[in-house]
Amino acid sequence: MFEITDIKIEHLTEAVGIEFDKPRIFWRCKCNLWEAKQISYDIAIKCDGNIVFKKFRESDENFCTIDTLLQPFTRYDIELKVCNNLEEKTSAVSFFETGAMGNLSGKWITYDKAPDGVSVFGKNFKAEKQIKSARLYITAQGMYEAHLNGKRVGEDFLEPGWTSYNSRICYRTYDITEYLAKDNTIEVTVADGWYSGMFGFFHKRNHYGDKTALFAMIRLVYADRSVQTISTDKSWYVTSSEVTSAGIYEGETIDKTGEKQPIVNAVEKEEGIDKIVARNCEAVRVVEWLKPVKAVKRGDVIIFDFGKNVAGIVQAELSGKRGSAVVIRHGEVLDTDGSIYTQNLRGIAATDTFILSGGKDVFIPSLTYHGFRYIEVTGLENCNSYEFTAIVLSTAYEKSGEFTCSHEGLNKLAKNIECSQRGNFLDIPTDCPQRDERLGWTGDIQVFGDTAAFNGNVMPFLRKWLVDVAKETTPEHGVPNTVPDIVAIYPEDIIPGISAGGTAVWGDVAIVLPDMLYKVYGDKTVLKEQYPLMKKWVDYVIARTDKKGLWRCDYQFGDWLSLEKAETGDERQGATDVYLVANAYFANSLKILAESAKTLGNKDDAQYYSDIYKKVVASYKKEYVDNDIKLITQTACVLALVFDLAGDRKGQVIQKLVQNIHDHNDHLATGFAGTPHLLKVLSENGEHELACKVLLNEDYPSWLYQVNMGATSIWERWNAMLPDGSIPDTGMTSFNHYAYGAVGDFLYKYIGGIKAEDTGYKKILIAPKPCDRLNYCKTRYLSPNGEIISEWKCDRKNFELEVVIPFNTTAKIVLPSGKVEEVGSGKYVFKD
Ligand code: BGC
Repeated sequence: MFEITDIKIEHLTEAVGIEFDKPRIFWRCKCNLWEAKQISYDIAIKCDGNIVFKKFRESDENFCTIDTLLQPFTRYDIELKVCNNLEEKTSAVSFFETGAMGNLSGKWITYDKAPDGVSVFGKNFKAEKQIKSARLYITAQGMYEAHLNGKRVGEDFLEPGWTSYNSRICYRTYDITEYLAKDNTIEVTVADGWYSGMFGFFHKRNHYGDKTALFAMIRLVYADRSVQTISTDKSWYVTSSEVTSAGIYEGETIDKTGEKQPIVNAVEKEEGIDKIVARNCEAVRVVEWLKPVKAVKRGDVIIFDFGKNVAGIVQAELSGKRGSAVVIRHGEVLDTDGSIYTQNLRGIAATDTFILSGGKDVFIPSLTYHGFRYIEVTGLENCNSYEFTAIVLSTAYEKSGEFTCSHEGLNKLAKNIECSQRGNFLDIPTDCPQRDERLGWTGDIQVFGDTAAFNGNVMPFLRKWLVDVAKETTPEHGVPNTVPDIVAIYPEDIIPGISAGGTAVWGDVAIVLPDMLYKVYGDKTVLKEQYPLMKKWVDYVIARTDKKGLWRCDYQFGDWLSLEKAETGDERQGATDVYLVANAYFANSLKILAESAKTLGNKDDAQYYSDIYKKVVASYKKEYVDNDIKLITQTACVLALVFDLAGDRKGQVIQKLVQNIHDHNDHLATGFAGTPHLLKVLSENGEHELACKVLLNEDYPSWLYQVNMGATSIWERWNAMLPDGSIPDTGMTSFNHYAYGAVGDFLYKYIGGIKAEDTGYKKILIAPKPCDRLNYCKTRYLSPNGEIISEWKCDRKNFELEVVIPFNTTAKIVLPSGKVEEVGSGKYVFKD
C-alpha cells in the first residue's frame, strides 16, 4: 500500500477564498514498506483544465511552492504524483480557490438610527441567467450570521472572528451556488460582537466603533461566463431581527413573537474597504453536540448538566405558551448547595432569554458564546415540551495527538487538556471562555503552545493570531499583554504600575511561538514573517536593561499564580523574584532570536544577539544563580535549568529543586512561568521518578487533584476549588484555563516519548520514559510527515516498545536502558 493521505494548502485542509502570494502545497503519504522514502514528486496545477504550473522534482521534500501568478476568484485543481524508492507511484487530487486578492468592490453599510434590537441588513436580487457558480464574500463590523433565501449560510460561528480591527478584518468566502433561485433574498444579522459590544474586564463598549456595519459581495458567474456582482451599498435595507439583544458577555435574547420593524435604507460609510483581508485560517465551527447527562429540579428552576466544561451555546427546542420566556444562565460548576455558581463570571450576565411563539420553536443563540458545563433554566413551567443541546464551539483545527495509558487519572487529564484547548481556541487563543475576559492573553498561549501543537494542527490558527501580535507591538510598549489589544486603549483604567504590555513571559510569545511553529512544522515561513516582531520584542527588552544587561524595571507578572508567596506576600506574582523570571525568559528569547537569525541567513543579527545573550547569561548567573537567596523557589531552579543558565552550579540547582519539592511533601508549587518546565527539567536531570511522583500526586496541589474533584477541563488555579467543593476566590477563578495544561507536553514527549529530532519531525526521536506506576502507554501524533505511534508496555523486568515511523522519515529510538537504534519508516517492536 502506497498512497497520498492528504494534501494541504498552506497547512489548510479547506482552502476556499484564500489569499497567499505563492501558496505552498503540502502532502502526507502512507506506505506499509520499511524504510520507504519519497524519491520524486510531480505536481500540476490546472485552471479550467489548462496547466498553469507544473513541477517535477527529485526530492524528498513534501511541499511545493506554486510559483506562478494566480488570478482572483479562481479555482485551481491540484494533481499530485509521488514516487517512492521502490519506484511505486501514487497520485491524488485536490483543489484550492483564490479569494478576491484586492478585487472586492462595495461599501461598508450601516444605518442612521439603529433599529430596535439587533439589525438585519438585507437585499432582494435576481439571478438573470443560469448560474454556473456563486460566491458570497462577507464580513462585518460586529458579529454576523447570514441567511440566503431563509437558509443559514455556511457552518461557521462567531464570524468574522477577532483581529486587530483597526488594522484588519477578515472576510470569509462561501459557496452559495446551491442556495440560489431566480428571486433571492439575502439577510445578514449583525450583532455588536467584539467590534462595538461590551468587552474586556473594564466592561467598556465600542472598542472599534459604535455602530455595526456590513460588507458583502455576491459574485454570480453565469453559465455563459458572464459575471454579475451584487455588493453592499445604499440599495440594501435595514430592519430588525427576532434577536432583540446579543452580546458576547451578556448573552442573547430571541423573541419569536415579534413583528419585524419597518424597513429603512442602509447608509454607506465613508470608510474604505482596504482593511478587509482573507481569513486564511479555519473558522469557529461546531465540534461536538452534547445532550444533558443529568437534570435536577431545584424549586422553580431545572439545572441541566452537559457532562463537561465547554465553550459554546445551548440550542433549545421549546413549545409552550406564546409570549412566555425561558431564561438560561450558564455556569461552569455548582455551588456546595447544588445551585449554579456564577460569581466567577465577575458580574456579566451570560444569560440567554427565549420568548416563545406559541408553536414549536428552535432557538440557537449564535451571536454570543458562553463557557459552561451547567445551565439553569427558568420558565419551563410554561412549556409543553423542551429539549436542550449544547453546541460545542471551537476553531476547527485538525486533531493531531492522542495519549492513553494505564492510569485512568492521566487519561482524564489528557482529555481535560484537550477540552480546555478546544474551549479557548475560538478564533484567537483566549485565557478562558466564561468570565469578563476571553482575551488573547499572550502569556497563556506562550506557555501552552507546545502542548497545543501536539493536540492539533495549530499552524493556521496561530499564524493568523501572530499577525495581530505583530501589528500591535510597538517599540514604546513592547508586545501587548492581550492581543487583539483592547486593554491599552484605556490607559486611564489600567491599575497604576501595571502596564498593558511589555511584560516578560507574556511578551516572549513573540519569540517562542514563531520558533515553535518552525520546529514543529518544519516550515520557515512564520519565522520569516515574524522575524521583525521577534526582533522588536527583544530590542524592546534590551532598551530597558541596566549596565549588567539585565532587565530590572517595569511591572512583571512573575511566576503568576504560583503557590509560593512567602517572600513577596503578593498573592498572584508568587515568591520568585519577578526580575529573575523576566531575565531567564529574556536570555531564552535572545538565544532563540540568535538561532533564528542564523536559520534565516542573517549573520550580523546572529552575532549581535548571541553576544548580548552571553552577557545576559553571565550576569544572570552572578545575580540569580550564585546568589542562594534568589534560588528559594521551585521556579527559580526550574528556569535556571531549563534555559541552561546554571553553569557550574547545575548540580547544586538540581539538588535545591529536589529539596524544595521534598519540602513541599513532593508537590509542585509553581505558577505560569515554572509549571510548563518543571517535570521536563526533573526528568532531564536524573529525577524522572520524582517528576512522575509530582505528576501522579492525587492531593492538592496537583493536576490529578483537579481530576479527582471532577474537573473536565483545566483550572486556572491549583486551588480553584477546595476539597469540600467551595471556591475560595471569586475574583479570579476560571475552571477552563489551559495554561497549567502545558503539562501535556511532558505526557506526550516524555512518558509517551515522541519528540522531533529535526524540524518538522523529518527525523523523529522516540525516547519513552516509563515510570513505576505506569505499565502501558500509547501516544499517537499526526506529524507533518504522517502518523507516529509510540506504544509501550512494561512490568518490573521487561519493557516492550512498538513504534510506527511514517513514510519519508527516519527515527532514533532510545530505549529506557539507554540502548539506541536508528530506523527508517515502518512498524517495529523493541524489547529492553
Ligand atoms: C488572565 C490570565 C492572564 C493574567 C495575566 C488573568 O486575568 O485570566 O490567564 O494571563 O490575567 O496576569
